[in-house]
Amino acid sequence: MSNYHIKNLQEYFHLYYKSVRNPELFWEEIAEENFVWRKRWDNVLSWDFTKPEIKWFEGAQLNITENCIDRHLHTRGDKTAIIFEPNNPNDPAEHITYKQLHERVCKFANVLKDKGVQKGDRICIYLPMIPELAVAVLACARIGAIHSVVFAGFSATALATRINDCDAKIVLTSDGSYRGAKTIDLKGIVDEALQDCPGVTKVLVAKRIQSDIHMEAGRDEWLQPLLDSAASNCEVEIMEAEDPLFILYTSGSTGKPKGMLHTTGGYMVYTAYTFKNVFQYRENDVYWCTADIGWITGHSYIVYGPLANGATTLMFEGVPSYPDFGRFWEVVQKHKVNQFYTAPTAIRALAKEGTEHLEKHDLSSLKVLGTVGEPINEEAWHWYNNNVGNSNCPIVDTWWQTETGGILISPIPFSTPTKPTYATLPMLGVQPALMDENGNEIKSNQVEGRLCIKFPWPSVARTIWGNHQRYKDTYFSAFENMYFTGDGALRDEVGYYRITGRVDDVIIVSGHNLGTAPIEDAINEHPAVAESAIVGFPHDVKGNALYGYVILKETGESRDRDNLRKEINQQITDKIGPIAKLDKIQFTVGLPKTRSGKIMRRILRKIASKDTSNLGDTSTLLNPEVVQKIMDDAF
Ligand code: WTA
Repeated sequence: MSNYHIKNLQEYFHLYYKSVRNPELFWEEIAEENFVWRKRWDNVLSWDFTKPEIKWFEGAQLNITENCIDRHLHTRGDKTAIIFEPNNPNDPAEHITYKQLHERVCKFANVLKDKGVQKGDRICIYLPMIPELAVAVLACARIGAIHSVVFAGFSATALATRINDCDAKIVLTSDGSYRGAKTIDLKGIVDEALQDCPGVTKVLVAKRIQSDIHMEAGRDEWLQPLLDSAASNCEVEIMEAEDPLFILYTSGSTGKPKGMLHTTGGYMVYTAYTFKNVFQYRENDVYWCTADIGWITGHSYIVYGPLANGATTLMFEGVPSYPDFGRFWEVVQKHKVNQFYTAPTAIRALAKEGTEHLEKHDLSSLKVLGTVGEPINEEAWHWYNNNVGNSNCPIVDTWWQTETGGILISPIPFSTPTKPTYATLPMLGVQPALMDENGNEIKSNQVEGRLCIKFPWPSVARTIWGNHQRYKDTYFSAFENMYFTGDGALRDEVGYYRITGRVDDVIIVSGHNLGTAPIEDAINEHPAVAESAIVGFPHDVKGNALYGYVILKETGESRDRDNLRKEINQQITDKIGPIAKLDKIQFTVGLPKTRSGKIMRRILRKIASKDTSNLGDTSTLLNPEVVQKIMDDAF
């Protein structure tokens, strides 16, 4: 087990060099000593970034749920696997032991089998943060079905696109969900989506809010009676290491969402290993990641990584502001949380409320604090460190992506000295490179470049579902023989990395990736709109907010502007979801375009962020006069 748990900086460097000198040997030892395999691999790694094709532990056989559940039963059977903290603080929390989790997953798996689900089938999961969500994910993995979890804040249109893209025949959902003081009619959203999904034959519905919903005869069934009568044991399906485990959609800068496909063996090894080290998880610790399982953070660091380590992982149904802004701290105190992992946007929202709520709670159980999803600004970092961590808990600023499956750059707590706004050092086996615009590697420090990774790590996504060419074009074509992240970064004199943000047209709002093109498409479908362009601008809580420049058709010119703004945001809510709503909408007569017709977003970004002292070169514009006009209208 020696390689598995890094305990100091010297050990980190020792292992890092080993992991880079001989990655196959490094990962082979980790895989061999810490997991249950039904058959050993024939080959640790084969890869070719030009195709691109990446295979880890080829020939090995396993089931990830055997590693996440069954193998713990004799040593940790009565240990809590999942703590479920409900939306309403007056409702009791649920403690699900490994034994109970085993039974629930087996029953759910048997229900799916009974409905005809087979290895390789895609199952769409559209559930709120209730235990059934984690159980459903694991039940799919147990029988080799490929889960595609869609965040239950997405709209009917977004859900339908994702169901159709991977041709899912079954949808798992609930009657509704709680969100603070509100309830959301999830089943109604599913019903609407399914009008456009002729392939879906079965919808299994969990009961959460006891609402009166429509059940389509022959298609919809309540889940609970099926679970009640299902057998409580289900043998695992033996999977190949490179068999698909799940699809998870992420926004691209253009086109429809990308269904990132993750496979089984490498994903398991890497998420388990990084969970153990990045959070320094010790037996009997209580770990809480506040993300939703609908995002990659929830997949890797609420479900698979923690459970593979036999950890206790907390699932929270609610929101940070309900019933008040003290909720997170109340939960930390109540469950004596040791590791707490959240997004900078949540930290900024909480910091705005001052320290009054913090002072009312005992946070002394905390040992490690994490952040993910967007760059953390210095002020938020210090607030988190001083007030939540009492200057006593290392902050792990973890950089990674849906595509990377697991954390690639992060401090190791108690080993790596932290530095505000720096994600610091690569995880073991991860070989970052900064590239300039001409495709040359930047060797010097403090120069911003495009962040690439030179060598495969075990949990890299293997393809985009149904579109391998797009996978190649997006990640492996910008720089020769490298995985391109889409992020900018710089390196300081000791080799620490600081992520500076996206270099493409993806905008991160409250930690959610939003592509500009799908939002523009949604706006352009409004009958009064001729054309639009979206850019991000700095926002003190959300990190970035969205600014839309909208050109109206002649017919729209006479319309009331405030009404139009509302309708445009409603259109976005309907097509994508409320997370993509615009904070500002400016109606304009034109957009700055290059001679090839490309919108010059650089200029629009500057105007949106009121930074117009130096607009850069506008000489290549087809219509330079429009810039002044937009500026006049903006301020
Ligand atoms: C951004 C989330 C700065 C980055 C796990 C990346 C970060 C995108 C950090 C992926 C961080 C994530 N510092 N930026 N610590 N973590 N990002 O796919 O731009 O939802 O490319 O995965 O979030 O977002 P995704």
